[in-house]
Amino acid sequence: MNPYTSGYHEPVLCKAVVNGLVGKTDGCYVDATLGGGGHTAALLDALDAGGRVVGIDQDSDAIEAASTRLSDFIQTGHLQVIQGNFANLPVLLGTLNISAIDGILLDLGVSSHQFDAGHRGFSHRLDGPLDMRMDTHVDESARDLLARLDERELRLILRKYGEEPRAGSIARKLLAGPVPETTRELSEIVEGAVPPPQRSKTLARVFQALRIAVNNELEVLEQVLRDATDLVRPGGRIAVIAYHSLEDRRVKRFLRYGNLRGEPERDLMGNLIAPWRPINRRPLVPDEEEVAGNPRSRSARLRLAERLPLP
Ligand SMILES: C[S@@+](CC[C@H](N)C(=O)[O-])C[C@H]1O[C@@H](n2cnc3c(N)ncnc32)[C@H](O)[C@@H]1O
Repeated sequence: MNPYTSGYHEPVLCKAVVNGLVGKTDGCYVDATLGGGGHTAALLDALDAGGRVVGIDQDSDAIEAASTRLSDFIQTGHLQVIQGNFANLPVLLGTLNISAIDGILLDLGVSSHQFDAGHRGFSHRLDGPLDMRMDTHVDESARDLLARLDERELRLILRKYGEEPRAGSIARKLLAGPVPETTRELSEIVEGAVPPPQRSKTLARVFQALRIAVNNELEVLEQVLRDATDLVRPGGRIAVIAYHSLEDRRVKRFLRYGNLRGEPERDLMGNLIAPWRPINRRPLVPDEEEVAGNPRSRSARLRLAERLPLP
């Protein structure tokens, strides 16, 4: 049993994250995806009295749950919690006068709490409003997105973010009638567009695609990777847990080449310019025992890298 599990979320690859991230026990670390605070609790336990963690999440449910759970650390000043999007990392840290850090964790995607709360609209297994916003203060829900898109735009989203082979026919069906208001209505339209054996996987892909679009997930990931490069001190670390190949591919390229094109860059002398040194050639994955205890960890891929000295 993972000691850092809470009813909110079970942190994935917890030991590997802490061992891989914490180099200085009196350092300053950022958990940019605080969720239920499981990884943050483990990080705080690994630090000594001089160490601190800043926890960031764009979801107010996460901020409330983690702040309650970790209130003792907040009181002693070892944990500071900020609600915001990690796409604004330099600004968020600037409010705490922090301009350099020793490590950052990104545990991407949604928490179990978000997924299991029907009213948040993330799951095709639960009926609820077609919302899917991680930050409920932003304007556009999944329902609003479907009301705004034309067929071509929706097809592209399903193809690009869901890698959905039937993107064209599903987009056509989704826009043919009234805008679906609930996850059930959306699911019924999608189910009508595919044969029964493929329904479950198609629903997962369509929901993933809309969620990524609603929350701009790939753009904000690219932004935070660039900002982390500026913020993490040489010798400091980054840990990223991705749950699907769209994210993992971007993380892998960025940590290997320092850019998202996946092409090496060289200086005038022909030396490779690479701000990060990947720690492992292959991503770390949960072992059988972890997957058996937490099936949602099955697709997790952890990549770790060290910030190299500035040229
Ligand atoms: C997989 S959960 C993290 C769980 C956490 N590691 C734990 O131990 O409980 C991902 C969390 O990141 C948050 N999140 C995702 N994208 C974000 C972003 N761009 N900015 C801030 N928070 C984000 C989600 O709201 C969610 O709470």
